[in-house]
Amino acid sequence: MTTIDINSLLRENIKKLVPYSSARDEFSGEASVYLDANENSFGSPLPTAYNRYPDPLQWKLKEKISTIKGVPPQNIFVGNGSDEAIDLLFRAFCNPGVDNVIIVPPTYGMYEVSANINDIELRKVKLLENFQLDLEGIAEAIDKNTKMIFICSPNNPTGNSIDRQDIETVLSNFEGIVVIDEAYINFSRQKTFIQELTEYANLVVLQTLSKAWGLAALRVGMAFACQDIIDVYNKVKPPYNMSQATQELALEALNNIEQVNVWIKETVTERNKLSKALEGISIVEKVYPSDANFVLAKIKYADYLYDFLVERGIIVRNRSKVVLCEDCLRITVGTPSENEALINTIKEFVI
Ligand SMILES: Cc1ncc(COP(=O)(O)O)c(C=O)c1O
Repeated sequence: MTTIDINSLLRENIKKLVPYSSARDEFSGEASVYLDANENSFGSPLPTAYNRYPDPLQWKLKEKISTIKGVPPQNIFVGNGSDEAIDLLFRAFCNPGVDNVIIVPPTYGMYEVSANINDIELRKVKLLENFQLDLEGIAEAIDKNTKMIFICSPNNPTGNSIDRQDIETVLSNFEGIVVIDEAYINFSRQKTFIQELTEYANLVVLQTLSKAWGLAALRVGMAFACQDIIDVYNKVKPPYNMSQATQELALEALNNIEQVNVWIKETVTERNKLSKALEGISIVEKVYPSDANFVLAKIKYADYLYDFLVERGIIVRNRSKVVLCEDCLRITVGTPSENEALINTIKEFVI
């Protein structure tokens, strides 16, 4: 295990913080009369009763996630999407106007937005041309105020997985938090990093139920980390950060892993078909290999094609202004008929 004192990385105000103690924190177990939380004792105007505050630490859900992921419940944080897990890290570890974090563009946009919201300096170390880490550039960008490095693997929007050894090099040499965002891990040939939590005290792995699990509207994000980091999450999070309805629905969905595995297989098959079909179109210059549920394609006249598709009711993501993704569209893998509609429509495009 790497020896990093998580407490020493925290902001002073968070070290000293006395967290909010909710009614349901102070009493756990079963009682017959609950008059401690100023709830409506009569019920809810819904078929299901939601008049009681939910479990603040979502133990049932974490236990279920634990059985699926093989990580103990006390090493899991669940929140209102991965975005909450990202934002709370900034709030706990980064001093506004003083600290900095490193991101490796092109990558998921929320790291930058969260840094900006929290007034944290962002150091951008571009990926190499092959979309892998520039380890030297990262080493040069680190200083004593660098608190976090964000690595997305498989990466959004490029779709590739980041070389495992390179990530391990960062984890072993950086004395701050390394966040590995595995939102798309279910579609990847690469192994997750959640089995490495016992090796690296500075590792936070993010996953989500928004992608393979098909629950983007529910907003369930997960962070896996050593107990010290999860303790920090629990200290700074809003007391009831996940609703009872979300906890129950997520739990129900997690019992349906067979369906999700079927969709993952179908998505990977469709991804490969879609890539081949795109490669066969003359204006498509390159389709990048993908470990995710989308492909990045370099296309002549990408901006015009994007508008052409929008006019025909097909929305893809225009990444043509993004560094290293010039002239690229990012295309989510759809159902077979959606993919067919996309390909047929692109074939109709004439400049
Ligand atoms: C890399 C990555 N991380 C996280 C998210 C957001 O996840 P959530 O829906 O759990 O907030 C996305 C969404 O597109 C993503 O691409």
